Amino acid sequence: MRITVCENYDEMSKKAAQLVLAQVTLKPNSVLGFATGSTPLGLYENLSEMCSAGQIDFSNTVSFNLDEYYPIKKDDPNSYNAYMQENLFSKINIKRENAHLLNGETDDPEGECENYERMIGRVGGIDMQILGIGSNGHIGFNEPDSVMYPYTHITHLTESTIKANSRFFSSVDEVPKKALTVGILTILNSKRIILMANGAGKKQVISELLGDGMKLNLPAALLKLHPDVTLICDKEAYPK
Ligand code: F6R
Repeated sequence: MRITVCENYDEMSKKAAQLVLAQVTLKPNSVLGFATGSTPLGLYENLSEMCSAGQIDFSNTVSFNLDEYYPIKKDDPNSYNAYMQENLFSKINIKRENAHLLNGETDDPEGECENYERMIGRVGGIDMQILGIGSNGHIGFNEPDSVMYPYTHITHLTESTIKANSRFFSSVDEVPKKALTVGILTILNSKRIILMANGAGKKQVISELLGDGMKLNLPAALLKLHPDVTLICDKEAYPK
Protein backbone atom coordinates (compact mmCIF):
# COMPACT_ATOMS: atom_id res chain seq x y z
CA MET A 1 0.00 0.00 0.00
CA ARG A 2 1.38 3.39 -0.98
CA ILE A 3 0.79 6.05 1.66
CA THR A 4 0.57 9.79 1.11
CA VAL A 5 0.20 11.90 4.24
CA CYS A 6 -1.06 15.42 3.58
CA GLU A 7 -0.91 18.56 5.73
CA ASN A 8 -4.68 18.91 5.79
CA TYR A 9 -8.01 17.99 4.20
CA ASP A 10 -7.58 20.53 1.43
CA GLU A 11 -4.27 19.08 0.30
CA MET A 12 -5.63 15.52 0.59
CA SER A 13 -8.60 16.40 -1.64
CA LYS A 14 -6.33 18.06 -4.23
CA LYS A 15 -3.95 15.06 -4.30
CA ALA A 16 -6.85 12.65 -4.84
CA ALA A 17 -8.22 14.90 -7.61
CA GLN A 18 -4.82 14.80 -9.34
CA LEU A 19 -4.92 11.00 -9.33
CA VAL A 20 -8.41 11.01 -10.88
CA LEU A 21 -7.22 13.56 -13.45
CA ALA A 22 -4.26 11.34 -14.40
CA GLN A 23 -6.56 8.31 -14.66
CA VAL A 24 -9.13 10.04 -16.89
CA THR A 25 -6.45 11.72 -19.02
CA LEU A 26 -4.71 8.41 -19.70
CA LYS A 27 -7.98 6.53 -20.20
CA PRO A 28 -10.84 8.86 -21.16
CA ASN A 29 -13.39 6.02 -20.96
CA SER A 30 -12.33 5.04 -17.44
CA VAL A 31 -14.77 3.25 -15.18
CA LEU A 32 -14.72 5.14 -11.89
CA GLY A 33 -15.99 3.87 -8.55
CA PHE A 34 -17.36 6.64 -6.36
CA ALA A 35 -17.97 6.79 -2.62
CA THR A 36 -20.25 9.10 -0.62
CA GLY A 37 -19.96 10.44 2.94
CA SER A 38 -17.96 13.43 4.20
CA THR A 39 -14.51 12.27 3.11
CA PRO A 40 -14.73 12.70 -0.70
CA LEU A 41 -16.64 16.01 -0.65
CA GLY A 42 -13.43 18.03 -1.16
CA LEU A 43 -12.33 15.71 -3.96
CA TYR A 44 -15.69 16.20 -5.70
CA GLU A 45 -15.40 19.97 -5.30
CA ASN A 46 -11.96 19.89 -6.93
CA LEU A 47 -13.17 17.65 -9.77
CA SER A 48 -16.15 19.97 -10.36
CA GLU A 49 -13.87 23.01 -10.56
CA MET A 50 -11.41 21.22 -12.84
CA CYS A 51 -14.26 20.17 -15.12
CA SER A 52 -15.67 23.72 -15.30
CA ALA A 53 -12.17 24.96 -16.17
CA GLY A 54 -11.94 22.38 -18.99
CA GLN A 55 -9.05 20.53 -17.33
CA ILE A 56 -10.83 17.18 -17.08
CA ASP A 57 -13.42 15.60 -19.34
CA PHE A 58 -15.87 13.07 -17.91
CA SER A 59 -17.94 12.77 -21.10
CA ASN A 60 -16.66 9.27 -21.89
CA THR A 61 -16.35 8.00 -18.33
CA VAL A 62 -18.66 5.52 -16.66
CA SER A 63 -19.20 5.41 -12.90
CA PHE A 64 -20.57 3.06 -10.28
CA ASN A 65 -21.26 4.12 -6.72
CA LEU A 66 -20.40 1.83 -3.86
CA ASP A 67 -23.66 1.73 -2.01
CA GLU A 68 -27.11 3.08 -1.21
CA TYR A 69 -29.36 2.91 1.82
CA TYR A 70 -32.29 0.48 1.64
CA PRO A 71 -35.08 1.29 1.44
CA ILE A 72 -34.82 4.94 0.44
CA LYS A 73 -36.42 7.09 -2.25
CA LYS A 74 -34.00 8.39 -4.87
CA ASP A 75 -35.14 11.95 -4.22
CA ASP A 76 -34.79 11.67 -0.44
CA PRO A 77 -32.12 14.29 0.39
CA ASN A 78 -30.27 11.64 2.42
CA SER A 79 -30.10 9.12 -0.42
CA TYR A 80 -26.73 8.63 -2.03
CA ASN A 81 -28.46 9.22 -5.38
CA ALA A 82 -29.31 12.75 -4.18
CA TYR A 83 -25.83 13.23 -2.69
CA MET A 84 -24.10 12.33 -5.96
CA GLN A 85 -26.42 14.49 -7.99
CA GLU A 86 -25.87 17.47 -5.71
CA ASN A 87 -22.14 17.11 -5.09
CA LEU A 88 -20.81 15.81 -8.38
CA PHE A 89 -23.04 14.75 -11.25
CA SER A 90 -24.77 18.13 -11.62
CA LYS A 91 -21.34 19.80 -11.79
CA ILE A 92 -19.39 17.60 -14.20
CA ASN A 93 -20.04 16.49 -17.77
CA ILE A 94 -20.54 12.77 -17.10
CA LYS A 95 -23.52 11.44 -19.08
CA ARG A 96 -26.30 10.75 -16.59
CA GLU A 97 -26.98 7.34 -18.17
CA ASN A 98 -23.34 6.39 -17.54
CA ALA A 99 -23.45 7.27 -13.82
CA HIS A 100 -24.77 4.22 -11.99
CA LEU A 101 -26.12 3.95 -8.48
CA LEU A 102 -27.89 1.14 -6.71
CA ASN A 103 -31.65 1.69 -6.56
CA GLY A 104 -32.83 1.98 -2.96
CA GLU A 105 -36.46 2.04 -4.18
CA THR A 106 -36.47 -1.42 -5.72
CA ASP A 107 -38.91 -4.13 -4.59
CA ASP A 108 -36.36 -6.73 -5.66
CA PRO A 109 -33.09 -5.88 -3.87
CA GLU A 110 -31.46 -9.22 -4.70
CA GLY A 111 -32.25 -8.78 -8.42
CA GLU A 112 -30.99 -5.19 -8.26
CA CYS A 113 -27.68 -6.35 -6.74
CA GLU A 114 -27.21 -9.12 -9.31
CA ASN A 115 -27.93 -6.72 -12.14
CA TYR A 116 -25.50 -4.11 -10.75
CA GLU A 117 -22.72 -6.67 -10.46
CA ARG A 118 -23.43 -7.79 -14.05
CA MET A 119 -23.28 -4.19 -15.30
CA ILE A 120 -19.88 -3.67 -13.62
CA GLY A 121 -18.67 -6.90 -15.24
CA ARG A 122 -19.96 -5.90 -18.67
CA VAL A 123 -17.81 -2.74 -18.74
CA GLY A 124 -14.74 -4.71 -17.66
CA GLY A 125 -14.72 -3.78 -13.96
CA ILE A 126 -13.72 -0.61 -12.13
CA ASP A 127 -10.51 1.12 -13.25
CA MET A 128 -10.20 3.41 -10.24
CA GLN A 129 -12.17 2.96 -7.02
CA ILE A 130 -12.43 5.84 -4.53
CA LEU A 131 -13.01 4.64 -0.97
CA GLY A 132 -13.63 6.19 2.41
CA ILE A 133 -13.40 4.09 5.55
CA GLY A 134 -15.83 3.72 8.45
CA SER A 135 -14.35 4.10 11.92
CA ASN A 136 -15.27 0.42 12.40
CA GLY A 137 -13.23 -0.50 9.31
CA HIS A 138 -16.08 -0.88 6.83
CA ILE A 139 -15.52 -0.18 3.15
CA GLY A 140 -18.63 0.39 1.08
CA PHE A 141 -21.15 -1.00 3.52
CA ASN A 142 -19.17 -4.18 4.07
CA GLU A 143 -19.41 -4.14 7.84
CA PRO A 144 -17.28 -6.15 10.28
CA ASP A 145 -19.01 -9.52 10.55
CA SER A 146 -18.22 -13.20 10.74
CA VAL A 147 -19.37 -13.55 7.12
CA MET A 148 -18.08 -11.50 4.20
CA TYR A 149 -19.96 -11.28 0.91
CA PRO A 150 -17.84 -11.06 -2.24
CA TYR A 151 -20.41 -9.50 -4.57
CA THR A 152 -23.06 -6.79 -4.48
CA HIS A 153 -25.63 -7.64 -1.81
CA ILE A 154 -28.14 -6.35 0.69
CA THR A 155 -26.77 -5.89 4.20
CA HIS A 156 -27.67 -4.73 7.69
CA LEU A 157 -25.88 -1.65 8.99
CA THR A 158 -24.21 -2.00 12.37
CA GLU A 159 -25.30 0.14 15.32
CA SER A 160 -22.03 2.11 15.12
CA THR A 161 -22.57 2.94 11.41
CA ILE A 162 -26.20 3.93 12.03
CA LYS A 163 -25.01 6.19 14.87
CA ALA A 164 -22.12 7.67 12.81
CA ASN A 165 -24.40 8.39 9.84
CA SER A 166 -27.21 9.83 11.96
CA ARG A 167 -25.36 13.16 11.73
CA PHE A 168 -26.89 13.57 8.26
CA PHE A 169 -30.45 12.75 9.42
CA SER A 170 -32.76 14.62 11.79
CA SER A 171 -32.76 11.67 14.19
CA VAL A 172 -31.02 8.31 14.55
CA ASP A 173 -34.39 6.55 14.04
CA GLU A 174 -34.57 7.90 10.50
CA VAL A 175 -31.35 6.19 9.36
CA PRO A 176 -32.30 3.14 7.24
CA LYS A 177 -31.17 -0.08 8.91
CA LYS A 178 -30.19 -1.78 5.67
CA ALA A 179 -28.19 -0.94 2.58
CA LEU A 180 -27.26 -2.28 -0.82
CA THR A 181 -23.51 -2.43 -1.28
CA VAL A 182 -20.94 -3.74 -3.69
CA GLY A 183 -19.04 -6.65 -2.18
CA ILE A 184 -15.48 -7.04 -1.03
CA LEU A 185 -14.45 -8.82 -4.22
CA THR A 186 -16.18 -6.21 -6.39
CA ILE A 187 -13.89 -3.68 -4.67
CA LEU A 188 -10.78 -5.87 -4.82
CA ASN A 189 -11.34 -6.49 -8.54
CA SER A 190 -10.81 -2.76 -9.19
CA LYS A 191 -7.57 -2.09 -11.01
CA ARG A 192 -6.58 0.80 -8.70
CA ILE A 193 -7.93 1.81 -5.32
CA ILE A 194 -7.64 5.22 -3.65
CA LEU A 195 -8.49 5.01 0.05
CA MET A 196 -9.08 8.39 1.67
CA ALA A 197 -9.21 9.19 5.39
CA ASN A 198 -9.13 12.47 7.28
CA GLY A 199 -9.55 13.73 10.81
CA ALA A 200 -8.59 12.42 14.23
CA GLY A 201 -11.71 10.22 14.27
CA LYS A 202 -10.10 7.94 11.66
CA LYS A 203 -6.71 7.66 13.37
CA GLN A 204 -7.55 4.49 15.32
CA VAL A 205 -8.90 2.60 12.32
CA ILE A 206 -5.97 3.65 10.11
CA SER A 207 -3.60 2.53 12.85
CA GLU A 208 -5.34 -0.89 12.92
CA LEU A 209 -5.22 -1.06 9.13
CA LEU A 210 -1.51 -0.26 8.93
CA GLY A 211 -0.58 -2.57 11.80
CA ASP A 212 0.95 -5.99 11.24
CA GLY A 213 -1.17 -8.70 9.67
CA MET A 214 -4.77 -8.44 8.58
CA LYS A 215 -7.36 -8.04 11.32
CA LEU A 216 -10.29 -10.37 10.72
CA ASN A 217 -12.79 -7.89 12.13
CA LEU A 218 -11.59 -5.09 9.84
CA PRO A 219 -13.01 -5.38 6.30
CA ALA A 220 -10.58 -2.68 5.08
CA ALA A 221 -7.67 -4.98 5.99
CA LEU A 222 -8.58 -7.02 2.89
CA LEU A 223 -7.21 -4.12 0.86
CA LYS A 224 -3.78 -5.42 1.84
CA LEU A 225 -4.37 -8.22 -0.66
CA HIS A 226 -4.63 -5.72 -3.52
CA PRO A 227 -1.50 -4.78 -5.50
CA ASP A 228 -2.40 -1.14 -6.20
CA VAL A 229 -3.87 0.71 -3.24
CA THR A 230 -2.96 4.29 -2.37
CA LEU A 231 -3.93 5.59 1.05
CA ILE A 232 -4.23 9.37 1.03
CA CYS A 233 -4.84 10.78 4.47
CA ASP A 234 -4.30 13.99 6.40
CA LYS A 235 -1.90 14.30 9.34
CA GLU A 236 -4.70 13.96 11.87
CA ALA A 237 -5.74 10.55 10.57
CA TYR A 238 -2.19 9.26 10.27
CA PRO A 239 -1.13 7.30 13.34
CA LYS A 240 2.67 7.77 13.26
C1 F6R B 1 -19.94 5.67 1.43
C2 F6R B 1 -19.29 4.49 1.94
C3 F6R B 1 -18.77 4.42 3.34
C4 F6R B 1 -18.01 5.67 3.75
C5 F6R B 1 -17.56 5.56 5.21
C6 F6R B 1 -16.86 6.82 5.67
O1 F6R B 1 -20.33 5.48 0.10
O2 F6R B 1 -19.18 3.54 1.25
O3 F6R B 1 -17.93 3.29 3.46
O4 F6R B 1 -16.90 5.85 2.92
O5 F6R B 1 -18.68 5.33 6.03
O6 F6R B 1 -17.79 7.86 5.73
P1 F6R B 1 -17.32 9.35 5.98
O7 F6R B 1 -16.55 9.76 4.78
O8 F6R B 1 -18.60 10.13 6.09
O9 F6R B 1 -16.51 9.34 7.22
